[in-house]
Amino acid sequence: MNPYSLLKMSDLSNEDIFSILHDAKLFDNSRKDWQLPMQNALVANLFFEASTRTHFSFESAQLQLGCKVADFQAGSSSVTKGETLYDTVKTFESIGYGCVVIRHSQDEYFEQLKDIRIPIVNAGDGKGNHPSQCLLDLLTFYNEFGTLSGLKVLITGDISHSRVAASDKEALERLGSTVRFAGPKEWEREGYPTMDFDEGIQWADVVMMLRIQKERGASLQGMSDGEYLEKYGLTKERYSHMQDHAIICHPAPVNRGIEIDSDLVEAEKSRIFTQMHNGMLVRKAIIKRAFGFAPFEEGQK
Ligand code: CP
Repeated sequence: MNPYSLLKMSDLSNEDIFSILHDAKLFDNSRKDWQLPMQNALVANLFFEASTRTHFSFESAQLQLGCKVADFQAGSSSVTKGETLYDTVKTFESIGYGCVVIRHSQDEYFEQLKDIRIPIVNAGDGKGNHPSQCLLDLLTFYNEFGTLSGLKVLITGDISHSRVAASDKEALERLGSTVRFAGPKEWEREGYPTMDFDEGIQWADVVMMLRIQKERGASLQGMSDGEYLEKYGLTKERYSHMQDHAIICHPAPVNRGIEIDSDLVEAEKSRIFTQMHNGMLVRKAIIKRAFGFAPFEEGQK
């Protein structure tokens, strides 16, 4: 495996994480980008599962960096003729691509790609990992609170199917924050400490709502949308009990009126669209790293 691959958060040391966040912040401040020699960087985006944010913020990041980008469509490729994932990725390596970004519904699909030499960036694997989402969450929290240590983060909803919950838990705990989980009992996950939802709302610095992942077999368990919102969602009443400084996050896509009242998606405390902007920035830093460019130095303008 290439050392610049990013498959899961445990691939990154704490120092690596802060380097990526630092690069992302510099990308934001400079707006017009760094003159990185990336004109000959060929990158392919292989999305085997639906995506809006991750797919197109990677593409936006790549294009802004000057990469040449191929957008792979599985449905019109030789995957329909029985080509394996390994053979698809090996093909991109063989024909000159320098990096692939992959989203796939299979947990840890990358285990079958150990012999690939070019860097692989994981854009989400089943219920497993979503490292670029985790990094954009970390950037959002860091920008808000100036630290990733000592934060109290409540993640609530469909925990059992969530790769975001898994990646964020691993990284935040390692960086010194406390993460608690809430939601229907059926979606609890072993090793994920729970907390009463309404107590958590008053406790948390960050309230992160999760979507019910119907594509992975989750359902509202007989409840109507309104009943779910009332019992497990972020209502205006619950919003009014959040701490003054606390923020709402959501990896999105949002199912308005189910896990969150539609009017709260752009409420004062919401950072949902800020997260998406930060996603483009951290993905610039991830692609820069994948092509072997060292982190920008402290203070570099
Ligand atoms: N948060 C996230 O992964 O969104 P997409 O599925 O739209 O990429």
